[in-house]
Amino acid sequence: MVKSRLLAGALAVLAGGALVSVLVPGNATADRFGAERHGDDKPLIIGHRGAPAFRPEHTLLSYEAAAKMGADYIEPDLVSTKDHILVARHENEISGTTDVENHPEFAARRVTKTIDGLQITGWFTEDFTLAELRTLRAEERIPDLRPDNTAYNGLAQIPTFDEVIQLAKRYGVGVYPETKHPTYFDSIGLSLEEPLLEVLNQHGWRDKRSPVFIQSFETTNLKELRAKTRLPIVQLINGSGAPYDLVAAGDPRTYDNLITPDGLRDIAKYADGIGPATTRIIPVDATGKLGQPTSLVRDAHRKGLKVHPFTIRDENSQLPLDYRLGNPASPAFPRATGDVMGWVERLFELGVDGVFADDPGLARATRDRLFDRS
Ligand code: G3P
Ligand code: CA
Repeated sequence: MVKSRLLAGALAVLAGGALVSVLVPGNATADRFGAERHGDDKPLIIGHRGAPAFRPEHTLLSYEAAAKMGADYIEPDLVSTKDHILVARHENEISGTTDVENHPEFAARRVTKTIDGLQITGWFTEDFTLAELRTLRAEERIPDLRPDNTAYNGLAQIPTFDEVIQLAKRYGVGVYPETKHPTYFDSIGLSLEEPLLEVLNQHGWRDKRSPVFIQSFETTNLKELRAKTRLPIVQLINGSGAPYDLVAAGDPRTYDNLITPDGLRDIAKYADGIGPATTRIIPVDATGKLGQPTSLVRDAHRKGLKVHPFTIRDENSQLPLDYRLGNPASPAFPRATGDVMGWVERLFELGVDGVFADDPGLARATRDRLFDRS
């Protein structure tokens, strides 16, 4: 085994590949930046909600664009319908991403609910059958930032998870599903985990080599999933706050606690990786300027965990100050594309194993330039 790894390292150097692997102790290689990278793979490009820099998020249009741009995985956020079908939406409240407000037949379904401790008013997927949801059309969620995407308003339906997998298989990419509000969906009798595994199983994706990562901001459902599946699991780590399942149970632990060495050791018992906010890897100050990198990537790798940070976005207003480009006085500056490739390169330098990107094309171009070119 050691011999074959040495040979692989030597071959990478002889091939003159940009990824010049050299062996370091343990199950890691040091790449061209000297960063410890867990495993031998190039960083993954995850099409975050598809390719929402160019298409309304969580539509087949968006997922297809991501696959064509070179994403390795497409990422559906999953919620349930009334008839317990998993569909792709960032939230179960859908007024911001569909034309539901223009459907008088559903006007009476506008309600206020408490989701994860927050009062939210609108229309909720769990109050619609799949057939009813199919009468709606997707719309761009942030038209001020992405006005060109409104050209696609009205063209796409809300896709089911099954349809997302079918598309992924057509393009030869993986899926990276996120269970949204699992404690809440449990509380209304529409548990997400069973249909999630069932649909994946129907497509033959059921073992640890399947092109799947299951993710959640909560912890309890991921632990339950580990008991039921060998599919790769990723614990999401928000920039602040606490997993809602712990809040609901009166457990005082926060995301800060989860990424201590002891916390990471616990995560490694049920997960294969973490998906942290980028600020957990490089904090930003009040002006948006990057500070010094934390030890999180190294700490996680030492526990055998992959690191897939979220979210890389093109627009200046969504980038660290250090990577904004253009004239700040221009009205178009906030939505203009900054040096997103420089930002992705910085994260690759720090040894991350993948990135969630709203523009998987630029992330892929960055990886190809750094890792595939001689
Ligand atoms: O799942 C990674 C990232 O998508 C988490 O944030 O809110 O975009 O689902 P969110
Ligand atoms: Ca997500």
